[in-house]
Amino acid sequence: MNQEEKTKLLNAEADRITDTISKIKYRIAVFSGKGGVGKTTISVNLAYGLCVNGFSTGLLDADITGPNVAKMLGCEEGVIYINESIVPFEKYGAKMISMASLIPKGQPLIWRGPMRSKVINQFLADVDWGELDYLIADLPPGTGDEILTIAQEMKPDCAVIVTTPQEVSVMDAERAVNMAKQMGIPFIGIVENMSGFSCPHCVAEIDLLGKDGGLKLADELGVRFLGKIPFEIEARKQSDIGKPAILKNPNSLFSKSIIEIVNKIKINQQV
Ligand SMILES: Nc1ncnc2c1ncn2[C@@H]1O[C@H](COP(=O)(O)OP(=O)(O)O)[C@@H](O)[C@H]1O
Ligand SMILES: [Mg+2]
Repeated sequence: MNQEEKTKLLNAEADRITDTISKIKYRIAVFSGKGGVGKTTISVNLAYGLCVNGFSTGLLDADITGPNVAKMLGCEEGVIYINESIVPFEKYGAKMISMASLIPKGQPLIWRGPMRSKVINQFLADVDWGELDYLIADLPPGTGDEILTIAQEMKPDCAVIVTTPQEVSVMDAERAVNMAKQMGIPFIGIVENMSGFSCPHCVAEIDLLGKDGGLKLADELGVRFLGKIPFEIEARKQSDIGKPAILKNPNSLFSKSIIEIVNKIKINQQV
């Protein structure tokens, strides 16, 4: 393929991305500095929090080498292509695409940044998302290629930065907030996840990972604090079963905290 042909293909892809974006009212990027703080759990539950509010919602798993969204939704099948478009999965009323649906289970993807970015472009250009109120991108930890690609191509209206209250996580979240600022994402909010744990035996409140780290960071950096989400054993179990906790236990403290965050995002964005 010569340079002219390559440019033509890239321009056609850029046009398809523009077309996709034009049909999605609000786009949310969920990221953090640190791994394992609950980005995927929150992405999934926010998506269904929006769904139960009547919004059409999609979930784009932008964690290409560690994709977990499919597992948390119990999606085991591979993807289907129709007329060169990828058909997103529809699960519990939301649309979803994940690299996990494109590779055999357990198979590692040993890809450098540009390859991972290419897949994200394809998820935007070639997945038939249709008209959506919200599209949520669940990102890998850190401030690497995936978030750069999402910022440039998906053009998020909102960055949800997830941290636990623990200092080591807050420190990384600060980098994520500053990256979101540098990328010009208009609305930036912090979620403090795994914030408090209610012991099922003695009913005592335990600050497993410290207290108020996310709240203080939001204050220091002048961004919105979206809320605290407790550590809940049932929520963890639901992730493994493949059903979002917010659908299974809508009255739990975990689910109520998610709904409060959904309400803040909704008020800000007024879909
Ligand atoms: N609030 C929570 N209560 C209980 N378990 C949680 C909570 N948030 C996340 N988890 C669990 O913690 C682990 C890491 O969460 P995950 O969403 O995969 O993090 P990340 O996407 O940031 O790597 C998962 O096993 C998930 O089920
Ligand atoms: Mg994840």
